[in-house]
Amino acid sequence: MFKIGVIGSGKGSNFVALADAVNRGQLDIEISVVISDVENAFILDRAKERGIESLYIPPGKFKTKLEPEVEQAYVNVLKKHNVDLVVLAGFMRIIKNTFLREYPKRIINIHPSLLPSFKGLEAWKQALEYGVKVAGCTVHFVDEGVDCGPIIIQREVMVKPDDTPERLHERIQVQEHIAYPEAVCLISNNAIIVEDRVVRVKE
Ligand code: GRF
Repeated sequence: MFKIGVIGSGKGSNFVALADAVNRGQLDIEISVVISDVENAFILDRAKERGIESLYIPPGKFKTKLEPEVEQAYVNVLKKHNVDLVVLAGFMRIIKNTFLREYPKRIINIHPSLLPSFKGLEAWKQALEYGVKVAGCTVHFVDEGVDCGPIIIQREVMVKPDDTPERLHERIQVQEHIAYPEAVCLISNNAIIVEDRVVRVKE
């Protein structure tokens, strides 16, 4: 069975979308473990409710990344569970070398914009303030950069004239909950090839 480990800092709606897809039989994988850098993150409660092992690993002294020893602690847990793929779902820290070395092209992230536009925080707000008419979400592999690894799936969301950041983010999240299970499905079925930057679905 293909195993994933989910890492998140927040409410965990993307984790729930993945878990629901598994329960509905749409995604033939096992979610082996959920890890958070935030002790009271809702994602941990949501994992517990579903009987999935969940744990908080304190992030250490940095604000935007993990200390190398802490990265190693995350990796150790993922290794213990034999995960095939690391799925970042609202993880608010940058992944560094220890992780990337252990899981090359085996870490994915979901970002609430059509990359390469609007990297970074509150991407939906950046998009609205910029005045784009089409927003969306992107599932991509994680590499050394921030929000810039090879793109696996994108889904678009039309911006409405009276949108607020909150409303736009809500509609983007609806699309995220479709895109993330689809991307995990493709990877777990070994259905994609990565050629430099470009991800292709096998014929
Ligand atoms: C999502 O909007 C995702 O794109 C971003 O963080 C948010 C996580 O939401 N990376 P949730 O915790 O999965 O509900």
